[in-house]
Amino acid sequence: MRILLYRSDGNTAPWADDFARHLPGAECVTWSEGDKPPPCDYAVVWAPPEAMLRELAEVKAVFLMGAGADAILKHGSALPAHVPLVRLGDAGMGVQMGEYVVHAVLRHYRRFDQYEDQAAVGEWRALVTHDRATFTVGVMGAGALGRRVLDCLRPFGFPLQAWSRSEKDIDGVRCFAGNEGLDAFLRSTRVVVCMLPLTDTTANILNRANLGKLPHGAYVINVARGAHVSEPDLLAYIRSGHIAGATLDVFRNEPLPRQHPFWDEPRITITPHISALTLRDESVRQIAGKIGQLERGEPVADVINRELGY
Ligand code: NAP
Ligand code: GLV
Repeated sequence: MRILLYRSDGNTAPWADDFARHLPGAECVTWSEGDKPPPCDYAVVWAPPEAMLRELAEVKAVFLMGAGADAILKHGSALPAHVPLVRLGDAGMGVQMGEYVVHAVLRHYRRFDQYEDQAAVGEWRALVTHDRATFTVGVMGAGALGRRVLDCLRPFGFPLQAWSRSEKDIDGVRCFAGNEGLDAFLRSTRVVVCMLPLTDTTANILNRANLGKLPHGAYVINVARGAHVSEPDLLAYIRSGHIAGATLDVFRNEPLPRQHPFWDEPRITITPHISALTLRDESVRQIAGKIGQLERGEPVADVINRELGY
């Protein structure tokens, strides 16, 4: 069996080592621009260029080294429609998302962000605590990662709600669905956590109109994709005080350019797209398991629905 590896950062060697352990007998080859790859059974890729996708008509499946398929689907039909595209399903990312979001929610709830500012000027002053009963955390996207985040938030006793495309019934979580549920979800959400895939329907969803529906003093956490948020509108709402602040892990342009105004806004906390890193060993084990299922003619989980875009 031959597996074609590609990463936009070029760092495929450790992936080949892990495949040698988890799928002994498989030969890994790498692709570089201008290459005509040898015939391969599978491709395992992250952010491949359009030219590479055109070479993959004969593979049995393309596996992604991450959860989001937007970086490959943006190339439209370059990857032939008959080739299954399989993303990572959690693979160790859920627990990381849980840690990140719980930290961001508690930091704001317990006002540690404000205490950091006070400490910087030597100010000793207890602040009024937020009311837990009205500190509603709303997660946009109740998929593999969104549900894991809801589980991690549950012990703290905040009212929890979720918004998804299809109807859900999640223990202890008020569920909203579809376009018709979005308005009520946003108007009742105090801390919004974006965990949606980036698709034609979710791009720019946290725009001026929708951010404006959040209650005064709301907080924004984005761990999905930068293109979900209208950056100038978020900044304007933070400056006006309508939104108290934001913790942002993802941006329209990454790395976030040094001159971007977010860097100078103290109420915005920035991290460099690290909320859930791909764990290579766990990911290779998952992909190797799925290859085994495909070889036996069994169905695999996490196949991207190209119509829906996730
Ligand atoms: P997933 O399992 O596919 O879940 C996606 C969720 O979004 C589902 O609940 C889905 O609704 C909902 N959704 C999709 N389109 C919608 C729409 N138009 N309206 C309302 N809800 C919609 O995805 P996941 O594994 O949880 O990952 C989510 C995203 O996280 C990825 O796509 C990726 O972009 C991002 N991510 C970021 C990082 C990072 O480090 N920052 C790391 C990993 C992943 P249904 O349940 O009804 O289908
Ligand atoms: C990372 O952003 C991923 O989608 O896995």
